[in-house]
Amino acid sequence: MTILAVAAECAPFAKIGGLADVVAALAKEWRALGHDVRIVLPKYGCIDCQRWQIEPTRLTISVPMGWWQEYARIWRGELPGTDVPVYFLESRDYFDRPGIYGEHEGYADNDRRFLFLSRAAFELAPAVDAVPDIIHAHDWHTAWTMAFLKTHYRHHPHFTRAAGVFTIHNIAYQGISDPQYILPLAGFPLDGFAGSWLEHSGAVNAMKIGIMFADKITTVSPTYAREIRWTSAGMGMQHYLNIRGADFLGILNGADYTEWDPARDLFIAANYSIETLTDKELNKRALLEESVPPHERAIEIPILGMVSRLTAQKGIELLLGCMEQFVRTGRVRFAILGSGEQRYEHALHVLGRRYPTRVLVYTGYNAGLSHHVIASSDYLLVPSLFEPCGLTQIYALRYGTVPIVRATGGLADTVEDYNPTTGTGTGFTFREYSVAAFAATIERALRYYRDPVHWDRLRRNGMEQDFSARKSAQRYLEVFRWALEKIGRTV
Ligand code: ADP
Ligand code: GLC
Repeated sequence: MTILAVAAECAPFAKIGGLADVVAALAKEWRALGHDVRIVLPKYGCIDCQRWQIEPTRLTISVPMGWWQEYARIWRGELPGTDVPVYFLESRDYFDRPGIYGEHEGYADNDRRFLFLSRAAFELAPAVDAVPDIIHAHDWHTAWTMAFLKTHYRHHPHFTRAAGVFTIHNIAYQGISDPQYILPLAGFPLDGFAGSWLEHSGAVNAMKIGIMFADKITTVSPTYAREIRWTSAGMGMQHYLNIRGADFLGILNGADYTEWDPARDLFIAANYSIETLTDKELNKRALLEESVPPHERAIEIPILGMVSRLTAQKGIELLLGCMEQFVRTGRVRFAILGSGEQRYEHALHVLGRRYPTRVLVYTGYNAGLSHHVIASSDYLLVPSLFEPCGLTQIYALRYGTVPIVRATGGLADTVEDYNPTTGTGTGFTFREYSVAAFAATIERALRYYRDPVHWDRLRRNGMEQDFSARKSAQRYLEVFRWALEKIGRTV
């Protein structure tokens, strides 16, 4: 199959969160399974072209926006370790800025920037001789591709045989625009807008467009698929997901275990595996050496780690609500790597200054440190308010770092509460979104830390889990085949 993936993020070039990891991991796996995969991304100002050997091509495409044409020069690179081509759209107007979605605040023209990306994908494919079977769009940013496929490009020879698949990574961000502004740019009339597939609550809603126009819709875990269809977690999209119910399903994200493997990880201080699990501690020692003075490095104090965007979704309120009660007693240490909302960064730094040897706070985006923190911690905290899938808990399991998670979305699908009687389970879970429930679960988890039998069992159970991207890539291929059947093709 020829798969054209269009996305706002792709690791390692441009990453804010898990979307980037998943776009890259799926492409890698499909390619390894013999498919022709191409990725289309904006050429953001923050992309390090030299480092990733991204070079300009001779191609410039013209992209219809409204009644006129706009232009993008194409740069080309490859997904590291593969021959998967990644095409980068250079545009001074839209993408040549330091941020992906914004700096501190979102860019005011994000709707237009990503409309351009979505439209450009259709002009790019013929220019690079791609005749896609599948156009795979991710989140609201590229949802317009699903509409373009069924309208403006329906009879275009490069796309008549293509089906559209839309994957929802986070339904909380929907891409809402003023119809008067965006519809003319997208080439749709204002007449007939009300009540159409483009409209939700009087505005243009990109998420709804993706849901309604795609041949198949997926989201990133089975539990999140149920939550967004049947509960307020759907943030107003429940009705549309129900209309599309027969074409909608959850596929659990997978991890790229070539990137996230404690035995081969180049970012961590000491490699280890299930056979050499005691070496994990060398990483903890290294983190302590880097961060606290010699007389404060007691190795036996458990480290509760977290690697996260700092937004309300991630349950930062719960974390801030209970950190002090734990550090005050000196029983635990926290190691938090996060970036995002300034109010959270600030609150964490305040605690970090108050307890400099017990609350280790690293802000900013740091790929190497994310591996180091996960490898060095004893527990990984993911107390999310909602979580479509979540990847850090999946990585933590592989690193023998015990996850403590709120049982929501993909967290519920990947972490099983430890049962000391049967010795089954991989972490600790709680349901109620409250500081008390989170703190009680941390207490419960800490009880096993000094019990060698349970502690060993728990960590081994986690390390034996297999949430590989290969599995999820295969599920996507099934969905792609169903999507092609839906448009009358057999593959
Ligand atoms: P989300 O996509 O909602 O942010 P996920 O758990 O799916 O959540 O993915 C988060 C990804 O981003 C993981 O790969 C994690 O390691 C990474 N990450 C989050 N914050 C940082 C940071 N400050 N520095 C480096 N990597 C980070
Ligand atoms: C989103 C979600 C996260 C998910 C990631 C990759 O950013 O917040 O839960 O793991 O996408 O699908």
